[in-house]
Amino acid sequence: MMLNMTLTTPFAVYVHWPFCLSKCPYCDFNSHVRHGGIDETRFLRAYEIEIAAIAARAPNRTVSSIFFGGGTPSLMQPSSVGAILNCIGKHWTVARDVEVTLEANPTSVEATRFRGYRTAGVNRASLGVQALDDASLRELGRLHTAQEALDAVAVARAIFERYSFDLIYARPQQTTDAWAAELKRAIAEAAEHLSLYQLTIEPDTPFFGLHKAGKLKVPDEDLARDLYDLTQIICSDAGLPAYEVSNHARVGAECRHNLVYWRGHDYAGVGPGAHGRLTIDGRRVATATEKRPEAWLTRVEESGTGLIVEEKLTSGEAADEYLLMGLRLAEGIDPARYSALSGRALNPKRISILREEGAVETTADGRLRVTQSGFPLLDAVVADLAA
Ligand SMILES: C[S@@+](CC[C@H](N)C(=O)[O-])C[C@H]1O[C@@H](n2cnc3c(N)ncnc32)[C@H](O)[C@@H]1O
Ligand code: SF4
Repeated sequence: MMLNMTLTTPFAVYVHWPFCLSKCPYCDFNSHVRHGGIDETRFLRAYEIEIAAIAARAPNRTVSSIFFGGGTPSLMQPSSVGAILNCIGKHWTVARDVEVTLEANPTSVEATRFRGYRTAGVNRASLGVQALDDASLRELGRLHTAQEALDAVAVARAIFERYSFDLIYARPQQTTDAWAAELKRAIAEAAEHLSLYQLTIEPDTPFFGLHKAGKLKVPDEDLARDLYDLTQIICSDAGLPAYEVSNHARVGAECRHNLVYWRGHDYAGVGPGAHGRLTIDGRRVATATEKRPEAWLTRVEESGTGLIVEEKLTSGEAADEYLLMGLRLAEGIDPARYSALSGRALNPKRISILREEGAVETTADGRLRVTQSGFPLLDAVVADLAA
């Protein structure tokens, strides 16, 4: 089907900064340590070139959200962040109420630098706190203590209109009692948004090797499920229900950037290893850039773009992606949009079986969503519906 873009359709820009001070042993994000430093001015120029190249492919959009993710974007100079924001504003219209988020690692949080980001136009900070006890932070390979993380949260609270922080749970040796106490402490520090991720053991990370060798014992399935259920209860009771599998917010305080992904809207991906989804000539196009930072840099300098993937999705692929992303949200999906994308309706028999099993439900306004008890089985539910 042909997709229509209007100036009011949400459009987001993701800017990936791929550098960190050290590599955490659980992390498989596209992040790299460069002990010799990097040429930030040269990288900045490449970001500007890439933004221009993407804007030429997807012109006339109104940017509702910009997200500096990483890696550790809080290692960027505030002037670089400002220059990238100016560049985005030169190539697209930026909404008056644009959400501009910057991910920060507590190790690199300084009030002066944060004020610089604020002046540059950042209005939301997302901090990687990960844990509130020092032994866990050490085990996670973090360079900050719990107190330093809380100090960073206080800086974010004082400087930005909005902030959020991330915690990782289902960590080695974590009990339900310890997690309940830690989560309640975190909620007392949070304003309107928290991201709570279950530790996943990713292939090709040091944690993967340790886990395989039996040196890293993570909660079994039953305990992980108990920790997940406890998380839902404690957060809901505190007025921070899950609006997505791992994201909790007061109603109206959801991260708008994330909603663009999960609601299946368009976003530009800028920087090494960034992914994008653009509607071009009525077709949804998946984009991805070269992952290796220096290879991305020279590619942009030599060819004007770091894009290595630019693939038109079939209607089936676009519809399946809408299902996969949309069912992560508590609000679920609009079955009519699925049908319009795929050219066929979702299988009513499959829906009714999943409904009888208590895994999905239909809301009063006709949306299909995964139930609280269905969420831990999300992958299976999506696979069943997409089949
Ligand atoms: C790209 S990081 C950005 C934050 C920043 N680099 C930092 O670490 O402070 C985004 C988040 O993903 C989460 N994360 C990364 N690897 C994970 C894993 N293996 N399991 C669970 N959460 C993970 C962490 O909570 C992290 O804060
Ligand atoms: S968790 Fe954050 S700081 Fe650690 S390696 Fe990943 S991106 Fe870098």
